[in-house]
Amino acid sequence: MSADGSSTGSDPDNSRPAKRLPARPLVLVGLMGAGKTAIGRRLAARLGVPFVDVDAEIEKAAGCSISDYFERYGEDAFRDGERKVMTRLLNGPVAVLASGGGAYMNAETRALIAQKAISVWLRAELDVLVERTARRNDRPLLHGGDPRAILSDLMNKRYPIYAQADIVVDSDEGPAEQMTKRVVGAVRRHLDRHPELAAPC
Ligand code: S3P
Repeated sequence: MSADGSSTGSDPDNSRPAKRLPARPLVLVGLMGAGKTAIGRRLAARLGVPFVDVDAEIEKAAGCSISDYFERYGEDAFRDGERKVMTRLLNGPVAVLASGGGAYMNAETRALIAQKAISVWLRAELDVLVERTARRNDRPLLHGGDPRAILSDLMNKRYPIYAQADIVVDSDEGPAEQMTKRVVGAVRRHLDRHPELAAPC
């Protein structure tokens, strides 16, 4: 694991085209509001690979929204569907996958990610998560009480597990574009250290 904050090495803005491309899917991991979708879209565009929002894929497969799914079938059924969709995507072509915040908590999914992908944890402070998640009302886990208390509890439970990701990037209140540059730099350095994970030129 490497912690990658704002250090950008010799390419201060990471604005040149990504030299090395990953030979595996990139899986963005992190809590609700960490910026997985916003950064994931931009990262995929920078790398020239497809972007997949895993929650949207689950909704497509289920034929209903995540909120409705939780309400009708419960969280256990959702987690089962999430694991199946992740398995399918991890066995698919190279892409940037924005996973739902709970996907990496499943041991089977986590092992498959380690085997087939490169994981990037977008690590965010509580204030950032509270502020960002307040903008939307479609996250069933935040419906049952005070979002700050729920997110704080999830941080305690999940951050030690998210810390197993291959790459860690701090996600703060800066613009998504700036965060994306951080991730591009961190991925590039990871591929420099692990050339076997890079696609042949
Ligand atoms: C969840 C996060 C959500 C979604 C579901 C459960 C979680 O995705 O998968 O509401 O367990 O953290 P985002 O992290 O994309 O909001």
